Amino acid sequence: MTDKNRVLIFDTTLRDGEQSPGATMTHGEKLEIATMLDEMGVDIIEAGFPIASEGDFRAVKEIAERAKDATICGLARANLKDIDRCWEAVKHARSPRIHTFIGTSPLHRAIPNLTMDEMAERIHETVTHARNLCDNVQWSPMDATRTEWDYLCRVVEIAIRAGATTINIPDTVGYTAPRESADLIRRLIAAVPGAEDVVFATHCHNDLGMATANALAAVEGGARQIECTINGLGERAGNTALEEVVMALKVRHDIMPFDTGIDTRKIMAVSRRVATVSGFAVQFNKAIVGKNAFAHESGIHQDGMLKNAETFEIMRPEDVGLSETSLVMGKHSGRAALRAKLKDLGIELADNQLNDVFVRFKDLADRKKEVYDEDLVALVGQNDGSE
Ligand code: KIV
Ligand code: ZN
Repeated sequence: MTDKNRVLIFDTTLRDGEQSPGATMTHGEKLEIATMLDEMGVDIIEAGFPIASEGDFRAVKEIAERAKDATICGLARANLKDIDRCWEAVKHARSPRIHTFIGTSPLHRAIPNLTMDEMAERIHETVTHARNLCDNVQWSPMDATRTEWDYLCRVVEIAIRAGATTINIPDTVGYTAPRESADLIRRLIAAVPGAEDVVFATHCHNDLGMATANALAAVEGGARQIECTINGLGERAGNTALEEVVMALKVRHDIMPFDTGIDTRKIMAVSRRVATVSGFAVQFNKAIVGKNAFAHESGIHQDGMLKNAETFEIMRPEDVGLSETSLVMGKHSGRAALRAKLKDLGIELADNQLNDVFVRFKDLADRKKEVYDEDLVALVGQNDGSE
C-alpha cells in the first residue's frame, strides 16, 4: 500500500446524520457513538455544529477532549462568529479541524443574496480566519455539483490560497451520477492551481440511490476522503453509508485498490447502536448491516452454503462482526439445512426420523413465515411421542 491509495474516512453521523428529522441523540449517546467510531478507526469525526445550540457545542467539546486517535471536526457557516465558536469547541482535541462551508450554486447564492464577487471575497475572508486559528481547515462549496464549472474552479482556488487543507465537493441534493462524480474531481484536480497540495473529499447524498457509487467513483477520480454516516443516516434519503464504501473497497480491492483504516469487525456493533439511539431501524435487506444481509432461506442457497460458504457469500459475516451466517428456516428450506440446524441444536436424527420431521416442518412452514428453533424442538418432540 502506498499513501496515495489511502482513503480517509470522515464520519458525519453526529452532524449530517443527526440532522435527519427525528434522529436527535442525547449527549451521552453522542459521546458513546464517538468513542465507537474512534475505536473502529474512523480518521475524522464530524462531531456537530457548535453554533447550532449549547448542547451541540458541549457535545463537540467533550468529544474533542476524549478522542484518542481520530481528528475531531466541527461545522461552521461562512462567518467569523460561527468559526470562532467552532474553534472554541474543537480546540481541545489532540487533532482539531474546522470545517466551513457556503452554498455556491445559483440557487444557494440567492439565499444570502451575494454576488459572485462578494461570495468569493467572503470565502477568502472566512477560510483565512479559520486557518489563522487552526492548521487543519476543510472548506466545502455546498451544492458543488450544481455550481457553474468556472465559478467552482474559482472558489476552490480561493479556498486553497486562503489555507484550506481539505476541499470537500458535496453533492448536497444527491443529483450527480458515478461518471460525472469521477470526472468532476478529476477535472478540478487538473484545473485548479494548488490542487495537488490538498486532499479532495467527496460528500454524497442518496436521493437517487447512488451515494455509494458516486463516492467510490469520486475516489477513482482522485478524492482521498469519503464523507459518510453509519447506516447511511442523514437528511431525506440519507448520506453515503460508511459500511458500504468500506466493505466495497475491501471486497473489490482487486479493481479498487484503495485502503481505509477501518476495523471492519466493529461495523455491526456500531450499526446496531446507531439504529437504537437514532430510532432509525435498519431495513432488513440493507447492504452489509441489514438483518438479512447474511441470511439464507432457499433450499438451494442453504445447501450451497453448507457445502461452501463462498457459493452465495462474497464476504464473511465475521468480517463485519457477525459470529456466523444465519440459515433462516422457512418454506424454501431443504432437508440438508434442517439436518444442520437440528445438529446445531444438539439433535441428531436417523434418516427416517429426519424425513418425518421434515414433512411436519414443511407443513408448519407453509403456515408460518419463519420457523424458530423452539418450533423445531417441538416438532422433534412430536416425533418422539409418535413412536
Ligand atoms: O450536504 C452538504 O452539502 C453538507 C455540507 C454542509 C458539507 O452537508
Ligand atoms: Zn450533507
